[in-house]
Amino acid sequence: MATIPPTMRALAIPSFGKPSTYGLANVPTPQITQPDEVLIKIHAAGVNPIDTKVAEGALKMAHKYTFPLVLGHDAAGTIVAVGSAVNSLKVGDQVFTRVPIHDAGTMAEYCLSTASATALKPEFMSFADAASIPLVGLTVLQVIRRAETQLGGLKGKTAYVPGGLSGVGSVAVQLLKNVFGVKKVITTLSTGKMERAKDLFKGGEGEVVYIDYTKENVSSAIGAGNVDFMFDTMNGAIESLPLIRKGGVIVSISRTPSGEELKKKFGSPPWFMVVVLNLMDQVTKWRAGRNGVNYSYLWMEADAKGLDDLGRWVGEGKLKPLVGRTAKLEDEAAVKSGYEEVYSAKGGVGKFVVEVI
Ligand SMILES: NC(=O)c1ccc[n+]([C@@H]2O[C@H](COP(=O)([O-])OP(=O)(O)OC[C@H]3O[C@@H](n4cnc5c(N)ncnc54)[C@H](OP(=O)(O)O)[C@@H]3O)[C@@H](O)[C@H]2O)c1
Repeated sequence: MATIPPTMRALAIPSFGKPSTYGLANVPTPQITQPDEVLIKIHAAGVNPIDTKVAEGALKMAHKYTFPLVLGHDAAGTIVAVGSAVNSLKVGDQVFTRVPIHDAGTMAEYCLSTASATALKPEFMSFADAASIPLVGLTVLQVIRRAETQLGGLKGKTAYVPGGLSGVGSVAVQLLKNVFGVKKVITTLSTGKMERAKDLFKGGEGEVVYIDYTKENVSSAIGAGNVDFMFDTMNGAIESLPLIRKGGVIVSISRTPSGEELKKKFGSPPWFMVVVLNLMDQVTKWRAGRNGVNYSYLWMEADAKGLDDLGRWVGEGKLKPLVGRTAKLEDEAAVKSGYEEVYSAKGGVGKFVVEVI
């Protein structure tokens, strides 16, 4: 068995800040302390907007962070140690995971996760592709399944997903039409991304309608009451209400979570934060309800079974991972430049993945 070094290389931030302040550092290698944990030697790690938000201190009132803080929630790699209660995975398994929040820190040579958050990586999938999937893939799956339940099925329905080549959007458009039987997916893109999107979404089931949001009036292009399900990826739920038919559904991942969601994730955030966020969520629900629309916010959960489904759909050609940009961990300038793009929420295509090995 390979020895696990006491320290490792990691992208660790010295204090809250923007990507220009990030840097590589030697930090202690995490160690298994819980029976359900696994220790993973990371081959590739995916970057998500939440990582830059955490780095900026957006959640510092809800959670106590210690520095240097290693960023990252997504990883693909090889298991090098398992806790005493882990039966489903073993040393040497190649896996992918969206780690639970308390194990965050995947932009490094090693990370911890739990067995229930870690799935075997299908052999046909590269480590970079596998690292691009967990957080966005699970988010999409959990959002779609909620909408499917609320609408009593999605077959033959019309869905609206802003940002078709964003990390979440690129997975959502594919799963809605290729797996969940949606008849029409309407998506928005900037001009330069149109052809790439058409190429990615060609074939399979269902129609995709492309709107250039930099040139067209999106609301006029979609038309009032034409959408059954809006996947609110870009914080546009309120202005999109007229587009949703009565009895339709909006699931948002981009507005503020409710206070209850925050409590579920972080245990005991300050009470006033819970009250304010609950109030904001209630107001959004009320405004949607006035239009006959069922609004809810979803904060994704780590889930190995969902990863199994996503891996299977990649194998069946129903989901093509979209890695738009890669960098080697040791290339600090390239890594920071990738994070800058994620932080700006402009210009990127699919996922930014950092190759550790
Ligand atoms: N609640 C949860 O559990 C959860 C989970 C995942 C993500 N999220 C949140 O969901 C949001 C999206 O995540 P993501 O990973 O998909 O982000 P992302 O990949 O970083 O999205 C960035 C892309 O969105 C496009 N974009 C920006 N504004 C747009 C607009 N108004 N209309 C259409 N496209 C637009 C940009 O494309 P152009 O260059 O073409 O403008 C940009 O490349 C983030 O706020 C993230 O934090 C929440």
